[in-house]
Amino acid sequence: MAMTRQATPQPEIETTRLVLRRPRLRDAPRIASLLNDYEVTKNLARVPYPYTMQMAFDWLVRQKREWSPGSITFAIYEKREGLIGFCGTHREDRIPEIGYWLGRPYWGKGYMSEAVRAVIEWYFASSNLDTLVSGVFHFNAASLAIQKKFGFTQTRIGKRICLAQKAEIDHIETELSREAFYKALETL
Ligand SMILES: CC(C)(COP(=O)(O)OP(=O)(O)OC[C@H]1O[C@@H](n2cnc3c(N)ncnc32)[C@H](O)[C@@H]1OP(=O)(O)O)[C@@H](O)C(=O)NCCC(=O)NCCS
Repeated sequence: MAMTRQATPQPEIETTRLVLRRPRLRDAPRIASLLNDYEVTKNLARVPYPYTMQMAFDWLVRQKREWSPGSITFAIYEKREGLIGFCGTHREDRIPEIGYWLGRPYWGKGYMSEAVRAVIEWYFASSNLDTLVSGVFHFNAASLAIQKKFGFTQTRIGKRICLAQKAEIDHIETELSREAFYKALETL
């Protein structure tokens, strides 16, 4: 299934306060310093804690190697602060899943709403796919609020392993249609 219609597979996206772009190997130290924080990693399925610079480097190498139109990672750059987090789509099954995180000093300022909106706008504009999935661990009200704001609806509650917590945790699974996304934008 063709994902991309455009000549450049992954653009640099600029929003009011952010620039979203492909990660670089030299981002490893900054990623490690922001992600080696249990308050961040306990919300993420695939990120262990403690999190080391070598893990960040290995992850960046994998991203480069395994890049595909359905698995695209954007480093989130705040125009004055530099790298503050990541947002991307990951495709294991038929439908890509969107995931994201921000370093703790940058929470609560609307940055992820700004980034998620831009990534989803790009996703629907550049692909033939009409759906995106996501989800949150049951305690993650802030992340669920972002998803609801952009039109995601809950599909089921499943279980997902959280590497940082070393446990299987209730996971609210969500889905977004192209139509619901554009409808949600009209209300913002
Ligand atoms: C979750 C996370 C991405 C949120 O990023 P952020 O930039 O702080 O989010 P925003 O400020 O854009 O939006 C958060 C929304 O949640 C709301 N919110 C925050 N805490 C909330 C709570 N406890 N209950 C309900 N809503 C809450 C905010 O009011 C805001 O909604 P609004 O824009 O309608 O006012 C960030 O905290 C983070 O990276 N956490 C760790 C990793 C993570 O959880 N990743 C997501 C995994 S699913």
